[in-house]
Amino acid sequence: MKVAVLASGRGSNLQALIDEWQGDSLPVEFMGVGSDKINAQALVRAEKAGIPTRAFPKENYLDKESQENDIANWLEELGVELLILAGYMRVLSKNFIRKAECPIVNIHPSLLPAFPGLNAQRQALEYGVKVSGCTVHFVDEGMDSGPIILQEAVPVFEEDDVDTLSERILKVEHEIYPEAIRLLALDKVKCQGRKVKINRHS
Ligand code: GRF
Repeated sequence: MKVAVLASGRGSNLQALIDEWQGDSLPVEFMGVGSDKINAQALVRAEKAGIPTRAFPKENYLDKESQENDIANWLEELGVELLILAGYMRVLSKNFIRKAECPIVNIHPSLLPAFPGLNAQRQALEYGVKVSGCTVHFVDEGMDSGPIILQEAVPVFEEDDVDTLSERILKVEHEIYPEAIRLLALDKVKCQGRKVKINRHS
């Protein structure tokens, strides 16, 4: 499966995917890693792994539509079959998502549908939940609202702050994102309306 990744920042989820791929346990072809930030650490990680990179910096575009057109053309040129968002901090427009020629997946640091949007770990702490976690989901036109592929829970402790909770969640993100991409690449994921069925046994 030909995949591309969009990331804005440090790229630790991208690194988890690269590590699995280099260990031969992720049957994908990384066609490219793109970013809206020219200095994203994610681009450095991709280059180190020999994956072509491309920056789509906001400052180079008159508006979001022209930036997204460039991203769509890039994906088409690369023949991408799955777009992976890994800490991509610009919300993709409804138009981009509607017109996308391949599925888009994202990882979010909460147990959706709780705490969508920005600062999910802070939202969880402020709400006072005892359990949080992360979710891999298909991207639809809403905010973190698409069908759920995998989730993993972690405990929330009374002494947690945003950093300690984020770190605990990130550890499981690095496990379930590669697992979800592996299941998708092996065609074991079927979306039936809102529900995602996973066939782990065939
Ligand atoms: C992760 O917490 C992910 O859940 C969220 O953005 C963060 C990206 O971290 N969507 P990294 O750039 O992969 O380290």
